[in-house]
Amino acid sequence: MNMASLPSPMQSMENCKVFQKNIGVFFFTLLLFSIILFLPTLFSSHSFTTFSQLEGDYEEEEEACDLFVGKWIRDFREPIYNNLTCPTLPLVKNCVKHGKDPNYIHWRWKPDGCELPRFDPSMFLNIVRRKKLAFIGDSLARNQFESLLCLLSQVESPENKHKDSQGRFQTWYFPSHNFTLMVIWTQFLVQANERIVNGSASDVFDIHLDKINSEWTNKLPGINFAIISTGNWFIRKTYLHKDDKLLGCTLCSDANMTDLGYVYAIKNALSTTLEFIRTCKECSEGMVTVLRTYTPSHFEHGSWFNGGYCNRTLPLSESELSYNVSTAWRIRKSQVEEFGKVIQSVEMEGKKKFVLLDVSKAMMFRADAHPDRHWLRWQNVNDCLHWCLPGPVDVWNELLMVVLRKHSMK
Ligand SMILES: *[C@@H]1O[C@H](CO)[C@@H](O)[C@H](O)[C@H]1NC(C)=O
Ligand SMILES: *[C@@H]1O[C@H](CO)[C@@H](O)[C@H](O)[C@H]1NC(C)=O
Ligand SMILES: *[C@@H]1O[C@H](CO)[C@@H](O)[C@H](O)[C@H]1NC(C)=O
Ligand SMILES: *[C@@H]1O[C@H](CO)[C@@H](O)[C@H](O)[C@H]1NC(C)=O
Ligand SMILES: *[C@@H]1O[C@H](CO)[C@@H](O)[C@H](O)[C@H]1NC(C)=O
Ligand SMILES: *[C@@H]1O[C@H](CO)[C@@H](O)[C@H](O)[C@H]1NC(C)=O
Repeated sequence: MNMASLPSPMQSMENCKVFQKNIGVFFFTLLLFSIILFLPTLFSSHSFTTFSQLEGDYEEEEEACDLFVGKWIRDFREPIYNNLTCPTLPLVKNCVKHGKDPNYIHWRWKPDGCELPRFDPSMFLNIVRRKKLAFIGDSLARNQFESLLCLLSQVESPENKHKDSQGRFQTWYFPSHNFTLMVIWTQFLVQANERIVNGSASDVFDIHLDKINSEWTNKLPGINFAIISTGNWFIRKTYLHKDDKLLGCTLCSDANMTDLGYVYAIKNALSTTLEFIRTCKECSEGMVTVLRTYTPSHFEHGSWFNGGYCNRTLPLSESELSYNVSTAWRIRKSQVEEFGKVIQSVEMEGKKKFVLLDVSKAMMFRADAHPDRHWLRWQNVNDCLHWCLPGPVDVWNELLMVVLRKHSMK
């Protein structure tokens, strides 16, 4: 610190006697040092310091613990909501009403090495106050949205602002928190068209892996938290295109074509999506993108339309998983890889944040928590893909609360 360059107050002392002058300089210097010493304190209020301290502790605890690695343990507490306290709980997820044993509800996710805090609707609403949060994806994104709507409605009744006939696009508003919760439908995130054969839908899709689907991206401006997910729609016959060229197909047996596999398709569509968000100019500054990883279905002895079912009454054990070889794990790995790439690019740029909600492994255990035949939508068709409410999908929001708390307050 160069005392010679001190400003004018020094000059006003020029006419003082030597003794007085020395005293003056002494006290002035003392004052100056005090200011320098306490400058940092002046700029941060006491409460802010306390808050940073808490955040520091919180993070330290988190760094020591991977929330996504753990196991399901018994928990006989009542869930935060049930089919009587959640007015928006969809009939097809109201499994206990349709005869499912509620035993599947009484488990909680226990990360190895720490505890996952229980979902706290008031705390969540405070984190997202004055914000817009959107779940973007297929019916599993909607499943998480439905869970969050039930959880939050325990504290404040939301107003429905928009809902299309199939519930694919919905907007709900929590007035006293000025919080907007949306769900935005997209099966593939990128552009795709269903092939029409002889005038009817064929369930075969042409997918343009390098072209983002603007039907959802045009809703991004103004959104602060985007929870994106994808996966299950790719597991069918598709034709894959890049740069308007047909590259190959998936689950196909066309003689002249390469079967590229749906993991390739999921990975490339996600790459296009994350790159779009990373470079999106219309997106909110500081937007947080949460990538929710893939969760599998648990059909046994068949699939959707040929008698598959999932009537287990306990979560799978680690040995029953053999997750390293399963399809779900390969999809999840490819998603984590793409996430890793975008993280590397944004670290150099700042502003936008990307967070992983790695629920794959936890959900691979939960063969017992699907509606199975307890949903009464289509006769003789069991649902082993979506998740009953209340149920383990509520844990996705428990994990979301922890990651949003960490990333929205920095
Ligand atoms: C709620 O669930 C119970 C089983 O726990 C069931 O008996 C009841 O019919 C359900 N009620 C509604 C309104 O869904
Ligand atoms: C709600 O939040 C938005 C975004 O922060 C703000 O522009 C708007 O004025 C707020 N509305 C009310 C009623 O507080
Ligand atoms: C489409 O219609 C034609 C003429 O009726 C028929 O020959 C053909 O097999 C049909 N294709 C498919 C895929 O059903
Ligand atoms: C493969 O063959 C089918 C019909 O046999 C044709 O429609 C398609 O264009 C061919 N694809 C390529 C990549 O040559
Ligand atoms: C599940 O369903 C199969 C076929 O109907 C049956 O054999 C089996 O006993 C059932 N398991 C349980 C736990 O209900
Ligand atoms: C999966 O693979 C990793 C490393 O190859 C190994 O440490 C882990 O035990 C395996 N887990 C299972 C369930 O096979």
